[in-house]
Amino acid sequence: MMDYKRIIEQVVVLSKEVGHYLRTEQTKLRSDNIEKKGEHDFVTYVDKTAEQKIVNQLKTILPEAGFIAEENSEKRVDKDTMWIIDPLDGTTNYIHGMSPFAISIALMEKQELVGGVVYEVGLDECFYAWKNGKAYMNGQPIKVSDKPTLKDALLATGFPYYDYSRLESFMDSLSYLIQNTHGVRRLGTAATDLIYVACGRLEGFYEYGLSPWDVAAGAFIVQQAGGKVCDYKGETNYIFGKEIIATNAHIHDEFLDVVKRFMIG
Ligand code: IPD
Ligand code: CA
Ligand code: CA
Repeated sequence: MMDYKRIIEQVVVLSKEVGHYLRTEQTKLRSDNIEKKGEHDFVTYVDKTAEQKIVNQLKTILPEAGFIAEENSEKRVDKDTMWIIDPLDGTTNYIHGMSPFAISIALMEKQELVGGVVYEVGLDECFYAWKNGKAYMNGQPIKVSDKPTLKDALLATGFPYYDYSRLESFMDSLSYLIQNTHGVRRLGTAATDLIYVACGRLEGFYEYGLSPWDVAAGAFIVQQAGGKVCDYKGETNYIFGKEIIATNAHIHDEFLDVVKRFMIG
């Protein structure tokens, strides 16, 4: 059996090394370093170099594993054990000289998440968890908040930036939620939204139009910290299904009902 703890501890070390690279390069970035992958979807040499560094080191940690990596440094070949990597989540914040931005690395074994690391570089906060273990931030155990209802909750979301097909329903849900909660934040990095649910800063997060590398590590950490994660139907297709709800567990049913009402009908 794989030693998940040992593997994830190695990934924490590598995330901090690559995080140092991201922090250093942010101050050097020029506008001609920014390429467009889509209308509002940006990438820089930093995303690509960071991913290459991560992939190279992960190959030494688990030579048999395959990769699902946002910048395609490594061709996807499905194996029993897979790494799911976003080398820089929050590229728009990053190119505007802002935080937060994060590295997100998840480990999946036979379609089941077994480990995750999200390193939020701006505040130097590394969140991680492994199967059969707790969740941690910089060595300290973390858990979700105990706020019981939506009216006491602070939430986060991501605004659609390329798939506007559900924009109207999304705006209706947002309108309801800003009037019936403590508020709704848009941090600009789904991985960070998720780990903030895991450590109790936020009670819930929802977003559609996401990719596996945005959510896999954070969603695993939320669950190991006592939270709940699902798709908009309340089912389990939240890694590849392009939509996710994550909560502190206590507000889960109430929040899911609202998201279903507006986003599914
Ligand atoms: C983005 C961030 C953002 C979310 C987008 C993602 P990127 O990832 O997670 O918060 O709203 O959907 O694509 O492009 O910065 O890696
Ligand atoms: Ca991302
Ligand atoms: Ca990215």
